[in-house]
Amino acid sequence: MNMASVGILFLFFIVIRAQSEGKNFVKVECKTENVGQYGQQSMLDCVVKTSEEVKEPKITVVTWKKKGSEDALLVFHKGKTTLRPGYKFAESSWNDRNMNISLLITNTMMVNSGDYTCLVFTDSGDDEETETSLRVTAKYNKPTISFIPENITRREDVILSCSSVGGYPEGQLRWFDEHNKNWPASSEMEAELTNDGLFKLSSKLTLLKNSIFSKYTCVVFNSSGGKEDEVTLEIPDTAASEGQEQRKVSDQTSKIVAPVVVIGSLIVGLLLALLIYRRRSQRHHREVPTCESDAEQGDHVEMYKECEDGTA
Ligand SMILES: *[C@@H]1O[C@H](CO)[C@@H](O)[C@H](O)[C@H]1NC(C)=O
Ligand SMILES: *[C@@H]1O[C@H](CO)[C@@H](O)[C@H](O)[C@H]1NC(C)=O
Repeated sequence: MNMASVGILFLFFIVIRAQSEGKNFVKVECKTENVGQYGQQSMLDCVVKTSEEVKEPKITVVTWKKKGSEDALLVFHKGKTTLRPGYKFAESSWNDRNMNISLLITNTMMVNSGDYTCLVFTDSGDDEETETSLRVTAKYNKPTISFIPENITRREDVILSCSSVGGYPEGQLRWFDEHNKNWPASSEMEAELTNDGLFKLSSKLTLLKNSIFSKYTCVVFNSSGGKEDEVTLEIPDTAASEGQEQRKVSDQTSKIVAPVVVIGSLIVGLLLALLIYRRRSQRHHREVPTCESDAEQGDHVEMYKECEDGTA
């Protein structure tokens, strides 16, 4: 073989390859990473791409599987769709002309995180298996604070415990006082994986009896440091704190007592005034008889005054 024939063979080869590639160009393109929220719907977003020459491609087979599991989650074959509960096509009325073959997980759990494969056959070519993955995150619940002893008296040290459940991935709990100053926890925060694959975070803070602030806030942060929720504990500032209830009660009684005292003393005052005027008017009666009728008519102060003025 001379150089020319080798060259021609090579060209021929390239042309054939290009043709066959063009003909069989069927590809499933997926988002490389999908993110889902625990307890919500999530989607593995994939769409079938075909070469320009393919007019109105028709899908003959779709198989969605989770890696590590033999059972398919969704199979479309011979015009029939078979689904495992909790999985379906994201397109609500999907048909074999719809190139959007995204998989919808209706209620996302932690076990749904991982790698998936998708296999597609069309009437104009087949795809190799395409891979995609799902990452599941979960928001932490509002934390709760409990404390020992149950009554905070400021006469003994107190241990506050904060915990928050239901989050993923591992987050953080932090303590703040009323001035928003961050307090390091007394012991290392514990992160425990619960049965549902979510984290339970707990943290303790010891308060020394002589330096107890009036407010402590426990804040839960997600794995990327975003604040998710918080709870605040208010500590009554009296030393004898048996009495938060009692204080409330006495507050109420003082609300009732105050007006009673004011009205009572007003009445007593009026009565006293009356008594004094009566006495004086009696004295006047004797001295100035002309005033008698006026004074008798009423015990009114002004009337009496008139009378007095008249006689003065
Ligand atoms: C596929 O369909 C779903 C549901 O209608 C939609 O949310 C998604 O964006 C579509 N994906 C593409 C790549 O078009
Ligand atoms: C953490 O919280 C921030 C702010 O709320 C949010 O933008 C981010 O997506 C969250 N990260 C995770 C892993 O949940």
